[in-house]
Amino acid sequence: MHPAISSTEADQETHIATAAATDATQTPAREMIAILDYGSQYSRLIARRVRECHVFCELLPATTTLDDLRRLGARGVILSGGPDSVYDPNARHVEQAILESELPVLGICYGMQLLAYQLGGQVEPHTGRREYGPAEIHLTDEARGEASALFAGIEANGESGLAVWMSHGDSVGALPPGFVAVARSESGALAAMSDGKGHIGIQFHPEVAHTPRGKELLENFLFRVCGCSPSWTSSAFIEEAVGRIRAQVGEGRVICGLSGGVDSAVAALLVHRAIGERLTCIFVDTGCMRAGEPEQVVETFRSLLHIPLIAVDAHERFLRRLAGVTDPEEKRHIIGEEFVRVFEAEAEKLREREPIDFLAQGTLYPDVIESTSHDASAAQKIKTHHNVGGLPEGMTFQLVEPLRYLFKDEVREVGAALGLPEEWVWRHPFPGPGLAIRIIGEVTPERLETLRQADTIVIEELRRAGLYRQIGQAFAVLTPLQSVGVMGDGRTYANMVAVRAVTTGDFMTADWARLPHEVLARIANRIVNEVPGVNRVVYDITSKPPATIEWE
Ligand code: XMP
Repeated sequence: MHPAISSTEADQETHIATAAATDATQTPAREMIAILDYGSQYSRLIARRVRECHVFCELLPATTTLDDLRRLGARGVILSGGPDSVYDPNARHVEQAILESELPVLGICYGMQLLAYQLGGQVEPHTGRREYGPAEIHLTDEARGEASALFAGIEANGESGLAVWMSHGDSVGALPPGFVAVARSESGALAAMSDGKGHIGIQFHPEVAHTPRGKELLENFLFRVCGCSPSWTSSAFIEEAVGRIRAQVGEGRVICGLSGGVDSAVAALLVHRAIGERLTCIFVDTGCMRAGEPEQVVETFRSLLHIPLIAVDAHERFLRRLAGVTDPEEKRHIIGEEFVRVFEAEAEKLREREPIDFLAQGTLYPDVIESTSHDASAAQKIKTHHNVGGLPEGMTFQLVEPLRYLFKDEVREVGAALGLPEEWVWRHPFPGPGLAIRIIGEVTPERLETLRQADTIVIEELRRAGLYRQIGQAFAVLTPLQSVGVMGDGRTYANMVAVRAVTTGDFMTADWARLPHEVLARIANRIVNEVPGVNRVVYDITSKPPATIEWE
C-alpha cells in the first residue's frame, strides 16, 4: 500500500492507464465460482467463505450474463440475497440464459426467490411478518438423492434440526416445476428447495457465523454440486500470478512504491519473483514512520529479499512543510503531495536511465469490488483503485496489480509463502500520513520522538501478552493536552498520551479492545516512566462508529 493516502481513501480514479492490467488479469484459467450480487450486506462474506473453502470466486454485478460467465470459466453460480422483492418494477433479475444453462446455481434468500420466480414458481410477498434471526430447519421426506446434495453429511432431520440464520420478508409459496421442498423451518415455511439438477434455493444465510454448519453447506455446493476441487491455495495463486505478470510485463521494467505495509510488500515480492531485477522498489521516508520502520524496510528488502530498492530519506522536506500545520486534512494533503513529488522525481531519474512502463501496486479485492460489483458498466471499465494520491497527469504507467483478486488474509498467506518475515506479514495497518495524524496539533521532531517511544511500548506490550494478532490495530496518540502530575517529590505539567486498540474485521466498523487490565497497566506504567515529557496515559473506549479508529 502506498504510504501517502489511505486504504479507505483508495477509491480514487487516476489517469494511470489500466488496459494492460485488466487484460492480463481478466481471463483466469482456473476453476471459479461467480457470486452475483443483489445487494445483500453479506455478499462479500459469501465470497470470503468460498475462498476459505479454497475455491476461487468473484463477486460480480447482478447483470452478469452467461457469456461473461463462460469467459470467466465459471463452474457454478451463487445468487446473493438482497433487499429487492422479485415483483418490484426495478427488481434485479438473473439472466434467464444462466438458469437455462447447465451451470449449477445456489440461490440464497432473494437468490432463492429469483430462482422460484424465474423458473415458474410463486413468491409470496411478505404480509407484515418477516422471519429474521436464528431458526431451526428440518429436512423433509422428499430430501433424497441429488435433491439433498447440499445437506450431505449434515443431519437435519428428527428432533434436533439444523441451526440457521434466517433473514427474509418474501418467501417462496409454490415451487417451480421439477423442484422439491428439501427443508422447512419450524413454522413450516420453505427453507430449502432443489430440482436435483443443480438448482438449489435456500432461504437462510450459510455464510454467516450464526449458521454454524454453513461452511459445510457451501462445501457441498462447491465440491459435490459444482465439482470444484479445493485448489485455490497460496502456491497455486503465486504460480498463476507470476505467469500473469510475466505475460503482462514482457521484457519491460516495473517500479513499486513500498510503504512498510503488507500489501505493497507482497505485490513487490510477486513481481520480483516474476521478473527479478527488472523491478525497482522506491521507499520514501516521510519522517512520520514508526520507530525503526525505515531501517527495517531497507534491511528486509535489500539484505534479506535482495530486491533492488531506492530509499529516499525525505524527512526534512516533509517536516518543513508540516511545520505549524494543525489541520488533519491539511496534513494529509501535504504528505500526499510531497510524496508524489519525491516518488515522481525518483521515477524520472530511473526513467532517464531505462524505460519504465509499469507501476506495481498492492490494490486488494475489496477495493475492486467497491467499484465494480453493483454496476455492470463499471465492471467493464474496471476503475483503478489505488493508493497513490493521484500521480501527475503527464506520468502514465500501466498498472500491475497482482493482488487485485485477494482479500487481506489471503495476502498475508501469500506473503508468508513468499518469505516475508512473519512480523511484517501480521503487521497492523498503518495510515499513509503516519504519525502525523496521531499527533494532535503541530507535528515537530520532538513530538514525533515522544510519540514514537510511546507507540513502541504499546506494540511491545501487546506482543509480549500474545495479543498483537487478535487486535486489528493498536497505537498511541499524542494529545495536545498537558496535565498536572507528580513524580518523585515534584509536580509535573506534561503531555497526555492516549492508547487506542480496536478489534475489527474490515476497519469500517470497530470495537475498542477489552485489553486485560494488567496489560493496560504495564503500558501506562512504562510510558510514564520511560517516555520523557509524558505524565498521563488514557485508554480510548469508543467504538467506530461513532468515533473513527484514528483520532484525526
Ligand atoms: P478511520 O480512522 O477512518 O480509519 O476509522 C480506518 C482505517 O483507515 C486508516 N486510515 C488511513 N490510512 N491514510 C491511510 O493510508 C489515511 O489518511 C488514513 N486515515 C485512516 C486507519 O489507520 C484505519 O486502518
